[in-house]
Amino acid sequence: MLSSKRILLIIGGGIAAYKSLDLIRRLRERGAAVHPVLTRAAKEFVTPLSVSALAGEKVYQDLFDLTDEAEMGHIQLSRSADLIVVAPATADLMAKMAGGLANDLASTLLMATDTPVLCAPAMNVRMWEHPATRRNHVQLEADGVRFVGPNEGDMACGEYGPGRMSEPLEIVAAIETHFAVGPLAGKRVLVTSGPTHEPIDPVRYIANRSSGAQGTAVARALAALGADVTFVTGPADVSPPDGVNVVRVETAQQMSDAVDDALPVDAGVFAAAVADWRVSGASDRKLKKSRDGLPALEFAENPDILKRIAHMESGRPTLVVGFAAETDNVIEHATAKRARKGCDWIVANDVSPATGIMGGSENVVILISDDGAEEWPRMAKDDVAKRLASKIADALTE
Ligand code: CTP
Repeated sequence: MLSSKRILLIIGGGIAAYKSLDLIRRLRERGAAVHPVLTRAAKEFVTPLSVSALAGEKVYQDLFDLTDEAEMGHIQLSRSADLIVVAPATADLMAKMAGGLANDLASTLLMATDTPVLCAPAMNVRMWEHPATRRNHVQLEADGVRFVGPNEGDMACGEYGPGRMSEPLEIVAAIETHFAVGPLAGKRVLVTSGPTHEPIDPVRYIANRSSGAQGTAVARALAALGADVTFVTGPADVSPPDGVNVVRVETAQQMSDAVDDALPVDAGVFAAAVADWRVSGASDRKLKKSRDGLPALEFAENPDILKRIAHMESGRPTLVVGFAAETDNVIEHATAKRARKGCDWIVANDVSPATGIMGGSENVVILISDDGAEEWPRMAKDDVAKRLASKIADALTE
């Protein structure tokens, strides 16, 4: 599946570097050519000799190695790859990438290229959760860098939490997703997901119970069919899928702006539970209890993202799919909603508490289109997503 793919593998200096040796083996088994680059710190964890023996290629280490420059300059080295994989992506490498530093071979290669980049972070949990790494992660995602992991678990340093590098086969799966030649290869798809948070003041907000599970599953299923997915997500409970372009937002207005930035797309799937209202004139200071009684909140209407995109006069996606969360008369309400929003399909579901769907792992949906209402049996949210993705592929390729 990866035959004839050229992968530039940048190995950072972390204990997880030993897993990169297995990653090289797994990639070569699948037919990929791996060109390894070792940072100075990485050489403390794995030897250039073992990396080169496994890759069957020269190991690049130094920016100023004249022989290397004569054979293949760093610009050419990075651009001739189909994909750059950074594994382990240490806190230091992520910081350099986010800040645009180019002071060694690895960081210079990353700056000198427009080849897609996939990072597999690995670091101590405190480093992963440090505000600087949080900022760098968001920045890199916004720059289009894809991520796989990190996983949660026991760490070499004895602590527990997120920061373990993904296993080699998980990284291989993310690489295969990147190169997936499915029916949606070459198609751009936008997915919105999760709740939005509408601030009341700097510490309080209005939210809803959406976990983001269904939107995440849809994005993953579309990527598995080869789509180039932009995933615009509010503050969800579940992590975004691997191998998609993640854009994190908080409010409906930010989601609306991020959707505009993602256009043009072939299809838009609007699975987010967007707050219909925001607090008008949200305070920039914490509201205090006062003797004058309870604060009165005034609301303003949020942009209806789905409706706006479905009514675009030029550049409208070929297929616009909305979701409808209803608690009664599901088909009737969802059919009316489809007409009101102007979208092509509505995926309707009954979210009344007795169904256990909101926050649960299963879903019962009815797909409403020009062809009427198609009732699907109760199934896992992942299976709903796969079925929907395959229908989207049919609609975009027929
Ligand atoms: N939606 C949106 N922007 C909004 C509100 C909703 O894009 N401001 C999208 C959702 O992502 C979903 C669809 O519209 O695809 C339906 O959302 P829902 O909240 O169920 O519909 P409403 O129009 O808010 O109708 P109501 O709450 O009255 O049922």
